Amino acid sequence: MLSAVERKVEQFINDLNDKEISALYSKLPHGKRLRAKLILKIAGSNLSAIKTAAVVEMIHAASLLHDDVIDDAYTRRSKPSLNALYGNKTAIMFGDVLYSKGFLELNNISTEVARIVSNAVVQLSLGELKDVSLSKTFNTDKDIYLEMIYQKTASLIEASAGAAAILAGKPKSVYLTYGRNLGLAFQMIDDLLDITSNSETLGKPALHDFVEGKTTLPYIYLYEVLDDAQKVKLRSLHAKVLTKEEEEWITQKMDEHQILLKCYAQAKELIDEAVELMNEHGEEVLSDIAQEMIDREF
Ligand code: FPP
Ligand code: MG
Repeated sequence: MLSAVERKVEQFINDLNDKEISALYSKLPHGKRLRAKLILKIAGSNLSAIKTAAVVEMIHAASLLHDDVIDDAYTRRSKPSLNALYGNKTAIMFGDVLYSKGFLELNNISTEVARIVSNAVVQLSLGELKDVSLSKTFNTDKDIYLEMIYQKTASLIEASAGAAAILAGKPKSVYLTYGRNLGLAFQMIDDLLDITSNSETLGKPALHDFVEGKTTLPYIYLYEVLDDAQKVKLRSLHAKVLTKEEEEWITQKMDEHQILLKCYAQAKELIDEAVELMNEHGEEVLSDIAQEMIDREF
């Protein structure tokens, strides 16, 4: 099923008739295709759904190309990122080609689908900007973090599910909620994995987010429970390269206060709601997709 989406993306790339773009595309790791999977599961494998899925995956790939430049990330999915291989300029422009071609193709689907997807890309961009701005200071506000991850990650997953519901004539609000919850939980788990995984399993250095200045949910919760002296210490470690001892201090404090469990429980609540919603609507596969997300190894 997903291979139809791969073929459609390849067709869109081939339309451009540009050797450099084709070569760059061949170097792009494909990832899980979560958004495409949701679209096809909700709307079925018809041409409009396949095109929507292809466009969304191109936009998503573009956003990660830009994100790796912004985050100075030299690996993506355990492989060298495109910015590491070809430099920032090429990675940015390749991203621009992918998303502008995606937008061009979006015009050939439906106005409503175009509106929901393009609005999500605005949110995505606002969310990424917020992520960048927030990482300049030590953010301790949970609501600001949640709003940022909603925009940065959940908005496109929400829009994918919503657009597919529109194509299938299914109740849009149900699928929007499902996508939103899935997206929020996905990013919360991604932020947890940044703490629990090492460079071999995750393909990026441990505690990379904090080093980059990102106070994700675990750091916000940890900060809340530390005493005053420890709060000062955690702040002093923010956005700097950590020694082994400093890294261990952070992870040991997280252990002591069961911070990761607390974050996991919050993500699980969102997943439980999504699972229940899909069960109520007889969407077993979508329910399983949500469940699998929370059952990942930590
Ligand atoms: C990953 O976050 C980043 C995103 C999900 C969104 C990135 C969005 C943009 C760069 C703006 C939109 C741009 C275009 C071209 C459409 P992360 O750094 O927390 O996750 P990671 O661990 O996967 O890097
Ligand atoms: Mg990143």
